[in-house]
Amino acid sequence: MGNSAVPLDDGGVDRGLDLVGQVLLDGRPNDRRARSPGSRRVLVQQRDELVGELDEDLLASHDHMMAYVPTWDAPAAHGPRRERHGPVSRLDGVKRVALLGATGSIGRQALDIIDAHPGLELCAVAAGSRGEEVEQIARDRDVRHISIGGSPPLDALVQASEPDVVLNAVVGFAGLPATLAAIEGGIDLALANKESLVAAGALALAAQERGGGRILPVDSEHSAVFQCLEGRLPETVDTLVLTASGGPFRGRVRDELIDVTPADALAHPTWSMGPKITVDSATLMNKGLELIEAHFLFGLPYSRIEVVVHPTSVVHSLVRFRDGAALAHLGYPDMRVPISFALTYPERAPTPIPPLDLASGLTLEFRAPDEEAFPCLRLAREAGEAGGTAPCVLNAANEVAVAAFLAGELSFLGIAEVVERTLDALEAPAARDLHGLVEIDAESRRTAQALTRELVP
Ligand SMILES: NC(=O)c1ccc[n+]([C@@H]2O[C@H](COP(=O)([O-])OP(=O)(O)OC[C@H]3O[C@@H](n4cnc5c(N)ncnc54)[C@H](OP(=O)(O)O)[C@@H]3O)[C@@H](O)[C@H]2O)c1
Repeated sequence: MGNSAVPLDDGGVDRGLDLVGQVLLDGRPNDRRARSPGSRRVLVQQRDELVGELDEDLLASHDHMMAYVPTWDAPAAHGPRRERHGPVSRLDGVKRVALLGATGSIGRQALDIIDAHPGLELCAVAAGSRGEEVEQIARDRDVRHISIGGSPPLDALVQASEPDVVLNAVVGFAGLPATLAAIEGGIDLALANKESLVAAGALALAAQERGGGRILPVDSEHSAVFQCLEGRLPETVDTLVLTASGGPFRGRVRDELIDVTPADALAHPTWSMGPKITVDSATLMNKGLELIEAHFLFGLPYSRIEVVVHPTSVVHSLVRFRDGAALAHLGYPDMRVPISFALTYPERAPTPIPPLDLASGLTLEFRAPDEEAFPCLRLAREAGEAGGTAPCVLNAANEVAVAAFLAGELSFLGIAEVVERTLDALEAPAARDLHGLVEIDAESRRTAQALTRELVP
């Protein structure tokens, strides 16, 4: 279900949407005369279904008020329609945001968006090692729920802070419990932490089936696809095309990658991001992780998800339809756009990002990725197609290898080698539950660490 702001003073009718939310006072259509002192509750109705309840005292104290009322189904691929566990309406129109990974690149940009939007209120923050920084973030915004270095655990933080939306911007597998807690708890999940969906796609979809929380992608490519797919019938979709900048080593052949350093890999041409994802962009593993993420988010087989290199990162992704048409999502590469879209969905709030200036001369160039120089993309596709916990093994091995590369212990080309050899070494049966998945992740890390040591000169 989507939430849409419905002006009560307008009878609660939002005519721009395909379903109509109605606001009733004690069962009668809402109008000023109906707001008698005896009316204690405002019922929010959508078609014949009661979907929310508002407090009459609060209603009376405002001249103009917005209620968040479910109005339409998100496309099936983004989550089945389910009853939400939490409150469906918020009288003041403010969305409470739990921001996990608040000190990181996405976290900081999310703070810009939240601080600038009166309809967004920070209710919880979490970080890993930068405790003082996250405490300052919380103090500045009067936030009481804080987690530092996993204390309290992120799933407990999510439950205690009662957010309307969780922005999971933690890096790596550490973000998984929060992803599952949000969607199982029926809470909207603005997902930047792609690793959790890669490692636990099947578990996440099962949690969504039970809890009904929607996943609103923050990755710019998936946000683009989400928007291109909105309102489309699944059978009209032909293929998804994810664009990749190609990273700092775009155009190089394999031999030219032998001696590249962490500093070289961290110099991304178009995006400013945290170190792990920047290295993933340089190896094209980031696009591989996104391929698996797209498979779980949009329910298409891998054979219908394509990757192309697009150096200027202006086209964030495309959807091809069965009639030969393709819809693309364009914009300047700035993560505040997809962050804002996910946090304010479906409102699409203004951001400081300028509109695209086509007359200034945009270069829209596309080419096939070089999978010989950048084998991580192929490895991810193979792991995704193999299914089971192969994506979890891939992700764990990659996290270990990237950390070793950033520490100066492993070569750039060694990253793909560690990942491939870890995948070859381990069975990857489907995990029955989170506990099983955590064990596979731990075993993959041990194997990848041993293989990394073998490759260290
Ligand atoms: N940056 C982008 O433009 C971008 C774009 C698309 C998707 N993403 C995805 O978004 C996620 C974050 O990326 P990023 O670039 O923002 O990374 P980043 O700058 O490295 O930030 C990572 C954040 O995660 C926190 N963290 C790490 N381990 C944690 C733990 N165990 N518990 C709680 N918090 C923990 C870090 O806290 P401390 O710093 O305090 O340790 C930091 O706040 C990644 O999954 C990435 O793939 C990023």
